[in-house]
Amino acid sequence: MKRIATTVLSSALFAGAAWATFAFAQEPASAAAVDTSIVKPASTAADEVQIEKGRYLAVAGDCIACHTSKGGKPFAGGLTIDSPIGKIYSTNITPDKETGIGDYTFEDFDNAVRHGIAKSGVSLYPAMPYASYAKVKPSDIRALYAYFMNGVRPVSQANKAADIRWPLSMRWPLRFWRMAFAPDVATNDSPIAADPVARGRYLVEGLGHCSACHTPRGFGLQEQALTNDGKAFLSGGVIDGYLAKNLRGDRKDGLASWTEADIVAFLKSGRTAHSAAFGGMAEVVLDSTQHMTDADLQAIAAYLKTLTPADGSTKALTADAAAYRALRTGSDRSNGALTFLDNCAACHRTGGSGYDRTFPTLALSTVVNTEDPTSLIHIVLKGGEVPWTKAAPTHYAMPGFDWRLNDRDIADLLTFVRSSWGNHAPAVTESQVAKVRTAVK
Ligand code: HEC
Ligand code: HEC
Ligand code: HEC
Repeated sequence: MKRIATTVLSSALFAGAAWATFAFAQEPASAAAVDTSIVKPASTAADEVQIEKGRYLAVAGDCIACHTSKGGKPFAGGLTIDSPIGKIYSTNITPDKETGIGDYTFEDFDNAVRHGIAKSGVSLYPAMPYASYAKVKPSDIRALYAYFMNGVRPVSQANKAADIRWPLSMRWPLRFWRMAFAPDVATNDSPIAADPVARGRYLVEGLGHCSACHTPRGFGLQEQALTNDGKAFLSGGVIDGYLAKNLRGDRKDGLASWTEADIVAFLKSGRTAHSAAFGGMAEVVLDSTQHMTDADLQAIAAYLKTLTPADGSTKALTADAAAYRALRTGSDRSNGALTFLDNCAACHRTGGSGYDRTFPTLALSTVVNTEDPTSLIHIVLKGGEVPWTKAAPTHYAMPGFDWRLNDRDIADLLTFVRSSWGNHAPAVTESQVAKVRTAVK
């Protein structure tokens, strides 16, 4: 019996691995604007308030990011999510009766969003972050339901079946995944305490599903923690070829050096005086956080600042002008230093300081000093664009260097960046660059 149970569990985990590298190899952001024109006139003022509340919660949950394909209609689904064994497609969650969720009762909707069970009774792939949404209060789910039924325009667009081959296409093992890894859903409906930290925690752990990207995954590809465990929660995970980095209180690569105001500015405008959002985070800012209230962004910042360091270290980095002087006098003739001078210094400057709110700082940067260099290699290969937000309607871009620099040059260059101006992070190897180059092709 025990062996059978183990086999069942491991095949469950293997099928769990299907959605696996749901590692979100998604198509790029839709950034489709939410249509706020009246869809169905609400019958009472109370209904209208409820629908509006749901609209805001759908923004906080970033439902649009996954449920809208590139250039497609909002919430009509069809976004491709790659997994190593095939493609998964997000579904149509507009209130269309035939192809969407128009005939879903409140219970059907709640079952899908918080329990991971479709109306047909099959389990959903955890690419739908129901393990996080389980934390959402019942009254907020009611508001979301009111919005999806009355505030979203119905779109007739059939769902695509996942391109996963049998036997991995069988969904029943996902039931075991749910039993093993999804938490119990919230039943307590009392209001969240007025304390911003409590509100921030509710948003981060629940609708914000920040940990779906920012928490490392375990052997069953489950998040290692769904709530603050003092260690793994939000300590960093690789998603879609980027490191969704450590958001805990570490000095070097966490948020210890960020003020609450920095965090709010980042989530609202996509940039701070020293950093800029890129990769999956640029999409989160575009579709979700820039539309949230200042009070909620402040709550998120206050909560993140309560997280203790993942590695327990409190050592800070200190600025060091040696690399700046060596670049200015030409005394450092290494391949890393010269590659930096030729390709990067025009924007990021010889002191690594960049330009305020335009080109991010590389010196003492939390992005540069992460243990895992995946994001740095990725952005050097592919470049990036600072998101154009309501609070900062300007666009700056960094070109990609994949066509120009070989693996050796990029390894030397990043090793130079990670050991200059006071930075202190491990050297980058040629094989690490080669791996990311293949992954992001
Ligand atoms: C990270 C990506 C992602 C986000 C964010 C996301 N979803 Fe999903 N959702 C999916 C995927 C993928 C599926 C289909 C899963 C499957 O086929 O097993 C899905 C399925 C669903 C379903 C089941 C639909 C059906 O046909 O039975 C509902 C309802 C749903 N999502 C609602 C929501 C709502 C509401 C939000 C925002 C609060 C949301 N989703 C946010 C990826 C996401
Ligand atoms: C789709 C995946 C994804 C989700 C969901 C996500 N992030 Fe991120 N986040 C990233 C990636 C990738 C980075 C690294 C790139 C960058 O710095 O912009 C990042 C970076 C950040 C940074 C910058 C930290 C630094 O030191 O540079 C902050 C702050 C942040 N995220 C907060 C959040 C919060 C709060 C949430 C939830 C509301 C969230 N993220 C949800 C992917 C994600
Ligand atoms: C034309 C100006 C320009 C050049 C040249 C340039 N960058 Fe950038 N860099 C930027 C901009 C703009 C961003 C923000 C991109 C974003 O948010 O997507 C950025 C972001 C970065 C980041 C992420 C920092 C953070 O906190 O978000 C790193 C690391 C980086 N660049 C390294 C380099 C390296 C190494 C080179 C040389 C190979 C280089 N850049 C060349 C403009 C430039």
